[in-house]
This record gives sequence, C-alpha cells and structure tokens, in this order.
Amino acid sequence: MKEKMKIAILASGRGSNFRALAGACQEEGYPAEIALLFSDNAEAGALVFARETGVENIVIDCGPKRGSMSPESSEEMYRLCRERGVELVCLAGFMRIVKGKLLEEYAGRMLNIHPALLPSFKGLHGQKQALDYGVRYSGCTVHFVDAGIDTGPIIIQKIVSVMEDDSEDSLSERILAEEHKAYPEAVRLYAAGRLRIDGRRVLIIDE
Ligand code: GRF
Repeated sequence: MKEKMKIAILASGRGSNFRALAGACQEEGYPAEIALLFSDNAEAGALVFARETGVENIVIDCGPKRGSMSPESSEEMYRLCRERGVELVCLAGFMRIVKGKLLEEYAGRMLNIHPALLPSFKGLHGQKQALDYGVRYSGCTVHFVDAGIDTGPIIIQKIVSVMEDDSEDSLSERILAEEHKAYPEAVRLYAAGRLRIDGRRVLIIDE
C-alpha cells in the first residue's frame, strides 16, 4: 500500500477547514494524513478538535507582532515538520503571514485557503470586501503560498452567488461550505502528485 503523505495544519481559530481535511483523511484511499496541528492561539477551537481526535497538537508562540511570525517560531515549526516527515503544510485560518525558514523550506509545498475569488479581495474579511464591492459572485480559493499576501498560484476556486439580502454572515456561511470541499480536493491533487506549477499557473495532471 502506498504511504500517505503527511501534512501539517496551521490554524488560529475555529478550525472548520482543519475538520474538513481531517474528515477527508479518514476516507478510504485518500492520499494524505494529518501529522500535526500548530496553533498560535491556545484558545483555538482547532486545538480542541485535535485533542478530541488524537492529532498531535502544538501551541506555538509566534511572537508579539500581530499578523507576523518571529524567525524563531518559523524555525521551530520547520524543525518539527521535518522531524515528523511532513511533506505539505496547510494554512487553515492561520492569522499570520508565514515567512522565514518555514516558508523557505516549504516553498511550493504550502497551501492556503482564502474566502474570496483571488486576486480579488485579498487579506482580511474577504467576504465583507466582496459584499461591500457589490460583486454578484464570490467564493473561495485554494492556492500555493508565496511571500505575498494571498498571491500564490491558484489551485482550485469555487463560486458562490451573492444574494441581494446577504449579510457578511450568510455569505461567509455559503462560502465556508465550498471551502470544505475545495481544500480536501486540492490536498488530494497535491498528495497524488497531480499538480505542476508553471509560472503563475497550476496545471492539473490527468490521473
Ligand atoms: C476561513 O474562512 C478561511 O478561508 C480563512 O479563515 C477562515 C478559517 O475558518 N482563511 P476555519 O477556522 O477553518 O473554520
């Protein structure tokens, strides 16, 4: 039997994308497994789920600067990932920009999910930005992580219609349902070796 690819998740909050990925990893034939969860927030719901389900979980102090990550914490996460044989790092609601050793070493092997159709509405509150702008469609994007904010090559996007009576919450909820499909799909493709980065484009190789 082919060995499953080990993934690490970085999450700061509720952890619903982590749960969706963990669920996919339970499916027969899914090519990845979650080796560990990092959180920079000791109160994160993601940690509760990891503890309940026996996923190794580590609270990591990323330093006092909001949205940023200290070089030491980046090195420590890299060291732990390498030690556990992690081949893919998945950001799932991680509220800091990844940089330093972890980004350098996992370049091309790190994914993020964003709650808008990139390159529109990067950064925080993608759903509110879409609503305020008045777009008819929004959605979610799974992309490779590079040094920018939500700028890496795009793997999968899913589209959601924006309704006239949508609030930020109602739109976020419908987008989230699509996120929970998109992320497991993207990780499946990556772990099956079916993604090739070609400049800005990501090619999906046939099975
Ligand atoms: C999601 O909307 C994701 O797109 C964004 O942060 C949110 C995390 O939600 N990056 P959860 O913690 O996975 O429930």
